[in-house]
Amino acid sequence: MKKEKKSKRILVIGTGGTIAGKGDNFKTSDYTAAQIKIEDLVNEVCENTIHDNMDTIDYFNIDSCDMTSEKLIKLSNYINKVSESEDYYGFVITHGTDTLEETAYFLNLTVKTQKPVVITGAMRPHTALGADGPMNLYQAISLAKSEDAINKGVLVVFSDTIYSARDVSKINTFKPAAFGQKDLGCLGYMRDENVFFYNSPTKKHTIYSEFDISYLENLPKVEIVMFYPSADIKILDYVSKDCDGIVLAGAGCGNVSTSWSEKVKKIISSGIPVVRSSRIANGVVTYNEKTIHEKGIFAENLSPLKSRILLSLALTKSTNLEEIQKFFLEY
Ligand code: SIN
Repeated sequence: MKKEKKSKRILVIGTGGTIAGKGDNFKTSDYTAAQIKIEDLVNEVCENTIHDNMDTIDYFNIDSCDMTSEKLIKLSNYINKVSESEDYYGFVITHGTDTLEETAYFLNLTVKTQKPVVITGAMRPHTALGADGPMNLYQAISLAKSEDAINKGVLVVFSDTIYSARDVSKINTFKPAAFGQKDLGCLGYMRDENVFFYNSPTKKHTIYSEFDISYLENLPKVEIVMFYPSADIKILDYVSKDCDGIVLAGAGCGNVSTSWSEKVKKIISSGIPVVRSSRIANGVVTYNEKTIHEKGIFAENLSPLKSRILLSLALTKSTNLEEIQKFFLEY
């Protein structure tokens, strides 16, 4: 008898979001996120046999604005545990789009596997006309089964496009093509279940990352402060009273006013590391080793949101400014 080839085993981890959202029939707005079980979502895109070897788990059932550092640690440790103990070929995570980019980068830095790890979501609830979730989920599963996705770090699939977890950002508040890598384009495309890679991530990720969160329950507290003309300097006093690190979303190349610069210098000399990122979407906040103790650590091209994730992980290893700067150049 001819033996049928078993399809690759995939675990789909549901965390909630609009992809599992329900609202008035056909409407794309006024809905409630995180209402549908992941098994039901997967079953809808698995009617044919290519998806028969799949497991699902509703790990969280939240709006992604309710994601926390504790939850991120749990999710990453869970993936690490099952990736060691079970013979999964790859993992798919469904997630709300609002904070997907932060979760993706956190996992990229803390998941210890070369197996495909793919995150997706949806901009339209499941009940909407033209819901984008089913195709995104189908493509995420297809990508997690692809050999080409091995050792690429955590990947994001959205709207027929493959992005790297490090560089992806949400770039639209409501359109289905809601993600992008800004100037850096994308890693590749999906057409139905077919995978087309054109670029690879160049920064350290997954098994090459030195961040170990297996023993942690929470992360060092890092706050983001945005600078703008006339921004009240008292915000820096307030934030620095209760945090382990600060990310500045500066103007232009990470710049702030003269009075803010003086305050930042004082905060750094009090032992709180400050990272200079930019409120501008594209470009690099250039590294200057001479001014690191005055101006702060330079974020390279990481956004304020991604800088917060990296600084909180960096602080689990060191408070030395030069060492933290090295992380920002490598990751
Ligand atoms: C969320 O982020 O959980 C809600 C919004 C979305 O998924 O698009």
